[in-house]
Amino acid sequence: MSSNAVDARALRDAFGAFATGVTVITTRDAAGTDWGLTANSFSSVSLDPPLLSWCLGNASDCFAGFEEASHFAVHVLRADQEALSATFARKGADKFAGLALERGPAGIPLLSEYLARFVCRVAGRYPAGDHVIFLGEILDFQIGEGEPLLFHRGRYGRLAAP
Ligand SMILES: Cc1cc2nc3c(=O)[nH]c(=O)nc-3n(C[C@H](O)[C@H](O)[C@H](O)COP(=O)(O)O)c2cc1C
Repeated sequence: MSSNAVDARALRDAFGAFATGVTVITTRDAAGTDWGLTANSFSSVSLDPPLLSWCLGNASDCFAGFEEASHFAVHVLRADQEALSATFARKGADKFAGLALERGPAGIPLLSEYLARFVCRVAGRYPAGDHVIFLGEILDFQIGEGEPLLFHRGRYGRLAAP
């Protein structure tokens, strides 16, 4: 389909109707620089073998870092981590400043606070329009405590009290 065939703004709004959780995805490049961004394109893919996917925009400053990365980590955020989400969504921010980090395979940065965390090997990269689809083989995962941070129509939210 021609890229002129849809109104990009309207399509963005339509995509935004899909309520999601929020993740921060991190990696480290060969030179030892840490990279990370906020992403809601995360999806579970397969239990056997254990696989997940997410999409990285071609315009992200993180693009080159993730292009050469062998591993990455996906952190599913808690409702009280909205400020962390905002930091990792800000271009030019010193995203890792002041964060307590552990290190995973290939030295990738692991955040210590999360609702769930998946440590992955890059199993595939698939160019798709203005994004690249990343497929991750899950090497390890942890489950934390708490409620999820939500995202819908460009706004953060949390689950209503039962
Ligand atoms: C809730 C939310 C979800 C986002 N999801 C994605 C995503 O799935 N993929 C992506 O490439 N960018 C996504 N972004 C945008 C990136 O976080 C943001 O463009 C990027 O971090 C800007 O800085 P960078 O150039 O350092 O990557 C999202 C932003 C927000 C606030």
